[in-house]
Amino acid sequence: MDLTLNVNGRPREFTAEPNELLVERLRDGLGLTGTKVGCDTGQCGSCVVRLDGRSAKSCLVLTVAAAGSEVTTIEGVATPGGELTGLQEALRQEHGTQCGFCTPGMVMALGELVENTADGDAPTEPEIREWLTGNLCRCTGYHGVVRGVQRACASARAAAPGTDAVCDAMADAVTAASGQEG
Ligand code: FES
Ligand code: FES
Repeated sequence: MDLTLNVNGRPREFTAEPNELLVERLRDGLGLTGTKVGCDTGQCGSCVVRLDGRSAKSCLVLTVAAAGSEVTTIEGVATPGGELTGLQEALRQEHGTQCGFCTPGMVMALGELVENTADGDAPTEPEIREWLTGNLCRCTGYHGVVRGVQRACASARAAAPGTDAVCDAMADAVTAASGQEG
């Protein structure tokens, strides 16, 4: 089937078999190997991309089902010049970057959470951990990741008007969390 995907802002045209998975197209067809395959059964979250803005496990999506969609992979998150997003920078500062298998999927999934927080209630720590249930890591703790999300959410809300008090509280929470075991 001939189809087009808009990947990282660029239209890509190709022919796909009906049973081809989106993660196969991204990695093998388009060479975007930043998206990882940890389980291939929808459990680990290492294959998460943004599909029309929503985070999605690309091992569970048929390429043909994504036809015409906007796909963002980890390669399309930072600017071409390498400038990190607020979330990426916050994860770096809070030592929330883990291995190359789980981190890309976490960044993609958490990007949706952080973007949503700019105009809504800041997520609580349990809500952040709940959001992370689709992204597995059994090597390290999630503490640095949670702190990074809190820092990124505080920054996102600081950019929104009328949220100073909330942001102060978030910043205090980040500072307090930074003093705990990572
Ligand atoms: S590879 Fe898709 S969820 Fe694990
Ligand atoms: S799977 Fe990436 S650090 Fe554990």
